[in-house]
Amino acid sequence: MKVLAFNGSPRKGGNTQTLLAEAVRGAKEMGAEVTVHDLNWMNIRPCQHCGGCDNEARCIVLDDMQVVHQEIREADRIILASPIFFFGLSAQTKAMVDRCQAFWAAKYLHGKPIPEGLQGRKGLLLLVGGMTKDEKNPGFECSGVTAKAFFRTVNVPKHETLGYGSIDEKGAILKHPTALQEAYEAGKALAK
Ligand SMILES: Cc1cc2nc3c(=O)[nH]c(=O)nc-3n(C[C@H](O)[C@H](O)[C@H](O)COP(=O)(O)O)c2cc1C
Repeated sequence: MKVLAFNGSPRKGGNTQTLLAEAVRGAKEMGAEVTVHDLNWMNIRPCQHCGGCDNEARCIVLDDMQVVHQEIREADRIILASPIFFFGLSAQTKAMVDRCQAFWAAKYLHGKPIPEGLQGRKGLLLLVGGMTKDEKNPGFECSGVTAKAFFRTVNVPKHETLGYGSIDEKGAILKHPTALQEAYEAGKALAK
């Protein structure tokens, strides 16, 4: 089983990366082959809305997304992990997500969705935010709906979400009573 994971945080050893590492540990324990991309250090240009994918059903911008597109096609499971920035996904995460417009064009304009594969396709969304997670904070909801659009577009019909609020300073996630264990279990369940 192939698991493709994205870390959308620019902070090395930050909360997102730590949480994601636990999910990856769980997936690997189940025997999955896991690829992790730290988006901040990749060459991923924001979508140029050039219309190339409308015509060709593939992205014509030549950068690291060419490899990522192929990996997304071949993945059985996808993990998207992001800090919440200004009530939404981080720019690093969003740039990658927007570049998946090519899959939207392939699916809806050309009738060529990513094939389901033998093991189906499932996802996991991991979110951390410095603010409290309550009804006054739309960050989790806003990030969640964008991630939902991403998962649908890349033909992942089902995904689980783990979101943690009041996680601000670097390392705060380590002090959370359940987050690391939950991420580990979610990683295991994902790769079952
Ligand atoms: C530019 C920026 C914007 C942020 N905006 C929000 C926000 O809207 N809501 C929130 O809950 N936290 C916000 N935060 C806090 C981060 O989500 C928080 O520090 C998180 O733990 C960072 O995760 P990381 O260590 O993986 O980078 C923001 C942080 C930065 C740097």
